[in-house]
Amino acid sequence: MKIFLLFLLMSSTFFAQNKTIVQRADSVLALMTLEEKVGQLVQYSGDWATGAAQGRPAETSDELLKQGKIGSFLNVVSSEKTMKLQRIAVEQSRLKIPLLFGLDVIHGYFSTFPVPIGEASSWNPSLIEKSARMQAIEASSAGINWTFNPMVDIARDPRWGRIVEGSGEDPYLGSLMAVARVKGYQGDDLSAHNTILACAKHFAAYGGAEGGRDYNTVDLSERNLRDYYLPPFKAAIEAGVGSLMASFNEIGGVPASACKFLMTDILRGEWKSDAFVVSDWNSIGELIPHGVAKDRKQAAELGIKATVDMDMETSAYFYHLAELVKEGNVDIKFVDDAVRRVLIAKFKLGLFDDPYKYSNVEREKKTIKSKEIVDATREVAQETLVLLKNEKNTLPLSKSLKSIALIGPLVKSKDDPLGGWSALGDSSDVVSVYEGLTKKIGKNIKINYAKGCSFLDNDKSGFADAIKAANESQVVIAFVGEHRGMSAEASSRAKLDLPGVQEDLIKELKKTGKPIVVVLMNGRPLTITWLQENVDAIIEAWYPGISAGFVIADVLFGDVNPSGKLPVTFPRYVGQVPIYYNHKNTGRPYNPKDRFTSYYMDLENTPLYPFGFGLSYTTFEYSNPVLSKSSIKKDEALTVTVDVKNTGKLEGKEVVQLYIRDLVGSVTRPVKELKDFAKINLKPGESKRVTFTITPEKLKFYDLNMNYVVEPGDFKVFIGTNSVDVKESSFTVVE
Ligand code: GLC
Repeated sequence: MKIFLLFLLMSSTFFAQNKTIVQRADSVLALMTLEEKVGQLVQYSGDWATGAAQGRPAETSDELLKQGKIGSFLNVVSSEKTMKLQRIAVEQSRLKIPLLFGLDVIHGYFSTFPVPIGEASSWNPSLIEKSARMQAIEASSAGINWTFNPMVDIARDPRWGRIVEGSGEDPYLGSLMAVARVKGYQGDDLSAHNTILACAKHFAAYGGAEGGRDYNTVDLSERNLRDYYLPPFKAAIEAGVGSLMASFNEIGGVPASACKFLMTDILRGEWKSDAFVVSDWNSIGELIPHGVAKDRKQAAELGIKATVDMDMETSAYFYHLAELVKEGNVDIKFVDDAVRRVLIAKFKLGLFDDPYKYSNVEREKKTIKSKEIVDATREVAQETLVLLKNEKNTLPLSKSLKSIALIGPLVKSKDDPLGGWSALGDSSDVVSVYEGLTKKIGKNIKINYAKGCSFLDNDKSGFADAIKAANESQVVIAFVGEHRGMSAEASSRAKLDLPGVQEDLIKELKKTGKPIVVVLMNGRPLTITWLQENVDAIIEAWYPGISAGFVIADVLFGDVNPSGKLPVTFPRYVGQVPIYYNHKNTGRPYNPKDRFTSYYMDLENTPLYPFGFGLSYTTFEYSNPVLSKSSIKKDEALTVTVDVKNTGKLEGKEVVQLYIRDLVGSVTRPVKELKDFAKINLKPGESKRVTFTITPEKLKFYDLNMNYVVEPGDFKVFIGTNSVDVKESSFTVVE
């Protein structure tokens, strides 16, 4: 009888018309034993054969699937492998509940797009949505129905290697990028076979680690948490993200994986989200070294009571959750609520209607590295490069040059352009700088190549060849930066210099007297102060993905005019860190004429490059901003209009940025806050009028009593090409 009922339950026709997804989830929940409920909250990596590695059960994953004791895998890839496991779960277990297959599709599955901080440099949310869409199409064709992305951690400390995975230091830009990625991955119909569940991570404030040291303590005020770190998560929730991932770090003494304030009060209470929360890898188990749990059983109790729904790889829920319920230490409601949220996601994905739809070998073969997806990697990457310096119009290079020198460890690298977290990205698919430039101009321009040095040692024996190549060339292009393994997880650096002897190499090259262009591939802001002062042109390329060589060649020779803007501040020296644009004024703001103000006595007290900075091969002129009103009520809006003209000789894109400053509040307010931007394309001589609307929502903040309100008072408004080079005006808000 039960099987028949179950069949009816699952068949979408019978229930879909009559029941909501929540009701359908509850119908399944009602049939589950406690052990089966716990199984839905257990996630393991890969389809291991046997072994109690990392405290895993001794049974094989197949055996546990038949018992309904695993609800999800990560790191199982391919239609074939996912189909094998899905069949066991759906055909050989009692309740036939389909599995989730998660993977870190952070910037591509096989076809690697630029790293997220590079994508954020495009300041083009619709382009980033397209990138996520392409990633989802490719990953879903190989059985993946859940990505552990977008990573939405605000990061102000470039010592933290994971800054590469996010969208930089600003909550507004970070929120738009979070929404773009959620929409791209989840699409308009999460039940479609080419859309996948997104996961906003790492909840929360992981980027606030003291000293920029990964996994380190985070201690910040609730106001700071709400002003800076939570907005991208809230935006992702409002965009319908289906899951979140709890972070490793503590916040003010409470590890996120045991933090009711975050998971219950804010996520479930304030934001009313039914998205489920997965722990980070063993982050429930790490409650023990954090010192809030004496053993894995107590860790399980803390996790489930904080509403961390799924346990990635700790086996804490696997071994102890049922026991905790039977003993009366955990109310079954915690388990039921968690299971319901996981089942809702599986229903939303349409897995109960067709559990095998993601695993299709034929579609996988046709989709992986399809021309549409590979072309998209180039299209996206073209808008991620940031022109940091271009003296004497060194760039774009002329195609009538006779010879160029390509020097540095990144010229022929086919690994590093992939960046970190590149899933199944394969270096054989990468177009290296050398390959891209050879293909573009190799027939007409002689290329003199020398590696010069590595980034992993201090060996200068290659300098002589590099100098020779430079002397035989009209222009020197140095490709330097960081090894791809120097950023992303567990990759914090105490220094922000170019690693190894790369800068020494460029100093030697400068002695040849040739024009020097530097192209950087790196995963964090670097203190390239000497380069800024001594070379002719600098391009920040981040890690551009598989089309790196084509895109860098496109930009160097002017077929693409770079339009990227920095989503994160570059310091001059690591001692300035943390340094970010939306800082407070303090009672003694820096005044070069008064030493008793907030500054460092041993350096220039400004960023090397400010937030929002990026040059173009053309130039843009801004008119003075015109406001529709000089005074508004708290519930009124006003518009700010500016005319932007392309005053150069080349067509180009410009990111027009709008910032505000609340001059007096019941609490201190940042000296600037990004509130809007528009990326426009202008032909030479063309002018466009850009109008922004400042709504009450853009003026709200958490006041002295932590109410999210607009306060009356005077405001400044700034419009410009970055967070420093702006034209300003002002307005007043009245009661
Ligand atoms: C890692 C990362 C997280 C990732 C997860 C699964 O430790 O912190 O970002 O999604 O494990 O790979």
